[in-house]
Amino acid sequence: MFVTAFYLINLVNKMKITLTSSDATINFGKSVADLVSAGDVLVLDGDLGAGKTTFTKGLAAGLGIKTVIKSPTFTIIREYQDGRLPLYHMDVYRLENGGGADLGLEEYFDSDGVSVVEWAQFVADELPAKYLAIKFERTDNDDTRILSLEPHGAHFEQIVTQLEQQYGQ
Ligand SMILES: Nc1ncnc2c1ncn2[C@@H]1O[C@H](COP(=O)(O)OP(=O)(O)O)[C@@H](O)[C@H]1O
Ligand SMILES: [Mg+2]
Repeated sequence: MFVTAFYLINLVNKMKITLTSSDATINFGKSVADLVSAGDVLVLDGDLGAGKTTFTKGLAAGLGIKTVIKSPTFTIIREYQDGRLPLYHMDVYRLENGGGADLGLEEYFDSDGVSVVEWAQFVADELPAKYLAIKFERTDNDDTRILSLEPHGAHFEQIVTQLEQQYGQ
């Protein structure tokens, strides 16, 4: 019974959006940038090439970051301090077999910046209670991606509501 109720609550405010080009995904990232605040955590999942880093580039641009965003696959964490808020961009793909507990991720999550985690499923145990999950899926069309947003916590539900109004899907 409890599980069922929890599941229903979780379904509230989920949002799906279809983006038909890289630029559309960049622009969506910019829209998200306008809505985030210090300490926010965005959790990105989806296969290689699904668009996680492309979205992050848009988010960074929207935050006013001028530095070129590079995929942090080999560094795991890259920090950008030249925007409205610091951006902590993490790609934990290389932690497929564990090791996430040693990274001190919670210090980033609790910080004054915005944290973006690519391949978040590999650090599922380290994630905070409140975050915005975005799942990226490829489609039959090379340039089209479907994003599913799932807010955890009232603050992120509010963000999704605003994005729904903006994108009207
Ligand atoms: N609608 C789209 N959204 C995001 N990327 C797209 C889209 N259409 C094509 N692409 C291309 O797909 C690739 C996505 O790569 P990337 O963002 O690095 O993915 P990931 O970080 O998930 O591995 C890029 O080459 C990008 O130009
Ligand atoms: Mg990437």
